[in-house]
Amino acid sequence: MKYLTITYGCQMNLHESEKAAGILEGMGYTPTDAAEDADLIIFNTCCIRDTAEKRAFGNIGALKPLKKQKKDLIIAVMGCMTEQKGYDEIFRKKYPYVDIVLGTNNLDKLESFIRIRREKGRKSYENVSCDNPINDDLPVTRTSYPNAWVNIMYGCNNFCSYCIVPYVRGRERSRNPEDIVSEVRALVESGYKEITLLGQNVNSYGHDLKDKSVDFAYILEEIAGIEGKFRIRFMTSHPKDLNAEVVDVIAKYPNICNNIHLPVQAGSNDVLRKMNRRYTRERYFSLIDMIRSKIPDCGITTDIMVGFPEETEEDFSQTLSLVEKVRFSNAFTFVYSMRKGTKAVEMQQVDFRTKQRRIKELIALQNRITKEISLTYIGGVYEILVEDVSAKHDGCVCGRTDSGRLVTFKGGADLIGQFVKVKITQSRSASLFGELTEQG
Ligand code: 5AD
Ligand code: SF4
Repeated sequence: MKYLTITYGCQMNLHESEKAAGILEGMGYTPTDAAEDADLIIFNTCCIRDTAEKRAFGNIGALKPLKKQKKDLIIAVMGCMTEQKGYDEIFRKKYPYVDIVLGTNNLDKLESFIRIRREKGRKSYENVSCDNPINDDLPVTRTSYPNAWVNIMYGCNNFCSYCIVPYVRGRERSRNPEDIVSEVRALVESGYKEITLLGQNVNSYGHDLKDKSVDFAYILEEIAGIEGKFRIRFMTSHPKDLNAEVVDVIAKYPNICNNIHLPVQAGSNDVLRKMNRRYTRERYFSLIDMIRSKIPDCGITTDIMVGFPEETEEDFSQTLSLVEKVRFSNAFTFVYSMRKGTKAVEMQQVDFRTKQRRIKELIALQNRITKEISLTYIGGVYEILVEDVSAKHDGCVCGRTDSGRLVTFKGGADLIGQFVKVKITQSRSASLFGELTEQG
């Protein structure tokens, strides 16, 4: 019996697919990359933007002929898309060949739903689950060595006016610090070299726990103190919550990467207010100054959106000027997409052409800055954790600097999982190229 997982969206989803894989392998399934060979196909979906949703529906639809040929094939859909109200009906009516629809917090039901389908031929739909209590007693088949994803919390309380996440992932729920620390310790002991802590808003970690001394700075410090050579990364930080205490902990421990993903979303105070982000452009600048005064070489990355409702030319120029001033080492740029049920849907929308023009301009600006920052790496020697063989360059491997920059250099798969020193010799926009100078 073979399974295939197809994952859309963020790291949270990648990790949840690893949990689904853990359950399936516990049932005796083995992985395959080919849909034709699979007995079970799981789509782990995303709905943050319309494009993510359309792609998932398109690919689920494309399986109809295969299912016709292979009646016993089980198709399951899980993840954020399924959590939206009425989506079980969409699957019932438009995709009747889907056998299982499962919410983001229902993974513990996957095994029984598969058995019901196999033994009784019955379908199961249980999609609205996002406020269920945390269930972390699930096996995990990790697929991202030398990195391991570790959830520290689930959900989001922020209700940014454009965002569907709080509706599909529910309210914030933090894991107990003891459970997190023992998971990380076991991962490091079993050879993982990079731990990435996951939460929609890691800076509010612990706010919902009884012990008020437990917060994000506390858990970071506890994890940094675990013995062994490994790196710690975390995402995502919120500018309204990231504080000096957390930055001090990052500065204090060399094993916490000097890399902060701090989504700004927009540069205009009017837009930030309408987005319900609860910080100003000025507060964002002072945060950046604080980070850089404590950690001068910190790689700061961001998410930025253009075309939020009512965004004027002046608002957009404020975004450009913020990008110019902060000089992010990289930025994920998005065109605003309407999400049903969110506040921003009711506001005056920006037309398609304007959005397209703005995104092009923003990307061009950030590309120029990324390129300029890349040049500053040339000639330097950096410690790289080797992650994988390069997909694009034969005989090469790739890995990241502490600040999060991807570096490609000559080497074999035996280097994966090792910390090596690499001299940077070339840069090409966001990518750096170098030569191995030291191993192990
Ligand atoms: N449209 C476009 N981008 C969005 N994001 C979240 N919601 C939307 C939306 N409705 C972006 C934000 C967030 C990132 C993960 O996705 O920039 O930080
Ligand atoms: Fe969405 Fe805002 Fe929560 Fe991020 S902080 S997940 S953008 S609601």
